[in-house]
Amino acid sequence: MGGGLALHRKTRTPQADFLVIGSGVAGLRAAIELSRQGRVLMLTKGHPLESSSSYAQGGVAVAMSEEDDVAVHLTDTLTAGHGLCRPEAVRVLVEEGPDRIQELIGWGAQFDKIGGKFAFAKEAAHSRSRILRARGDATGNEMVRVLMAEARRHKEIQRLDHHFTVDLVITDGTCTGALVLDEASRTRTVIPASAVLLTTGGAGQVYARTTNPPSATGDGIAMALRAGAVLEDMEFVQFHPTALYLPSSPPFLLSEAIRGEGGRLRNIKGELFMHRYHAGGPLAPRDIVARAIWSEMASTRSRHVYLDVTHLSATFIKRRFPTIYSTCLRYDIDITEEWIPVSPSAHYLMGGVWTDTSGATSLPGLFAAGEVACSGVHGANRLASNSLLEGLVFGARSALAAISFASQSRRPAPPLLSARDLDAGPLCVLNDAEKLRSSLRRLMWGKVGLVRTGDSLAAATAQLSRWERIVARPFSTRRDLEVKNMIGVARCITTAALWRENSVGAHYRADFPEAKRSGWRQHSRLEREDLLMASERDTIPRSQAGSRRLKGLAE
Ligand code: FAD
Ligand code: SIN
Repeated sequence: MGGGLALHRKTRTPQADFLVIGSGVAGLRAAIELSRQGRVLMLTKGHPLESSSSYAQGGVAVAMSEEDDVAVHLTDTLTAGHGLCRPEAVRVLVEEGPDRIQELIGWGAQFDKIGGKFAFAKEAAHSRSRILRARGDATGNEMVRVLMAEARRHKEIQRLDHHFTVDLVITDGTCTGALVLDEASRTRTVIPASAVLLTTGGAGQVYARTTNPPSATGDGIAMALRAGAVLEDMEFVQFHPTALYLPSSPPFLLSEAIRGEGGRLRNIKGELFMHRYHAGGPLAPRDIVARAIWSEMASTRSRHVYLDVTHLSATFIKRRFPTIYSTCLRYDIDITEEWIPVSPSAHYLMGGVWTDTSGATSLPGLFAAGEVACSGVHGANRLASNSLLEGLVFGARSALAAISFASQSRRPAPPLLSARDLDAGPLCVLNDAEKLRSSLRRLMWGKVGLVRTGDSLAAATAQLSRWERIVARPFSTRRDLEVKNMIGVARCITTAALWRENSVGAHYRADFPEAKRSGWRQHSRLEREDLLMASERDTIPRSQAGSRRLKGLAE
């Protein structure tokens, strides 16, 4: 923290006991829980409905059908995670999930039914039909609608939209608030709080192709790292196999539920190919389908494969996938008559800010839930539709842990600081921010994507180190701050991917294709110093050096 402490009495600083950064499923569920114990301030950059939660299609996995059992959901999740889940976290997820969903139904959530009973769908790597959905393919939208309505009923919750969190405020090693930028007025304020909850979502935007909304720039991960928190498993990025591939469209997601209903994958020659890669065919685990598509694209020298639902009834498709049907039609593809061009896209970050099963991070006063967190439920590969459930379960849990922390008397008092007290120098403008953002996204796609090698990762590290120097300044606008955060997160993904010299789950090293080499069960853990050392020396972390710098911690 720079500068002397200035009392901050004249400006109207928003007051709250708890700060929740982000308003997706995790943030909303946390805020509702926190509001039972104090005043809650929810900060959202941009529009409150721009979140991955709002765009979630396939549904929410929960062991509630007659044919299902939490023990089977547990096993499926552990299997998909390739031995790198933390079993106690998965147990919490699957056991508390049904109660969280019942609660949501009590608040008004309308999940689709057939014949008066909930319709449970099938998705890849689930051994039971257990995915609840809403309005066919608008599950996230329905969950956010209900959570927002419930949050509005609690007068202790105040929302500040279009407020970008720049950094966390740390006092004597404890998180005591956040530095926040009002995007409209461009003024910056320090907001103190007894506990801070990070629910800022993922970082798909660091890749050129992503299903994620533009807001998914990894801010929470970058600011937690700067504040001194530990990150875990950053090498594990899930690529969704089927995003729309059209030069004129963003990579709009074509839900896995389409394959769950019988959708087929064909290469550019029209051949069905998945049976050659896995007994599960198009419903093989997500990492296997994504790499199979990658391999077909390479062998046929094409930029996409096709998803084919033309053999299904048109009436069924329009009713079951209304959003997908109408979105593709907007791009002149009638999916009931034509094959859909698709290719993989960055979709979900399994790694993130390390938390225990209560949602506590390694920094006192800071809690995290949802995609920003690495709670241990996903391991090396997330089971489809587990993350909306994770947001509900761990959103609520992290709130309870924050309440308990705030009730302790021996934590430092929230700071009376102005934004200026935190500045390390004058605020700057980043030249060519858009160009840098797009170069970064292409670099990550090309060198740190679905298939990585030591050489590609080393080249990416060298470039990222150069860019890190360019952005090592305080910036004044959301756009510039996001680029800085994206470079920071990209660096973490790349460093962890270089360190992990085996191929497991979503992390595939062409130079180390074996799954089980010595130490493969370790988790990569990163702290600020791990990256500082590398950039100070301006060396490419070699695998040996990397494994000393990164802490590979056993489960
Ligand atoms: P998000 O919902 O992403 O919310 C993040 C919030 O943080 C936003 O409000 C954002 O504005 C805010 N924020 C970020 N940075 C800042 C900052 N600096 N300052 C202030 N606010 C900030 N999962 C499933 O389980 N089932 C599905 O069917 C499914 N489908 C998906 C489809 C798509 C297209 C995508 C992209 C993801 C899908 N997922 C699905 C994954 C799932 O939606 C997400 O992992 C989950 O919703 C993340 O929730 P969250 O609350 O952690 O974050
Ligand atoms: C999908 O609908 O395919 C996305 C589901 C998920 O990512 O969990």
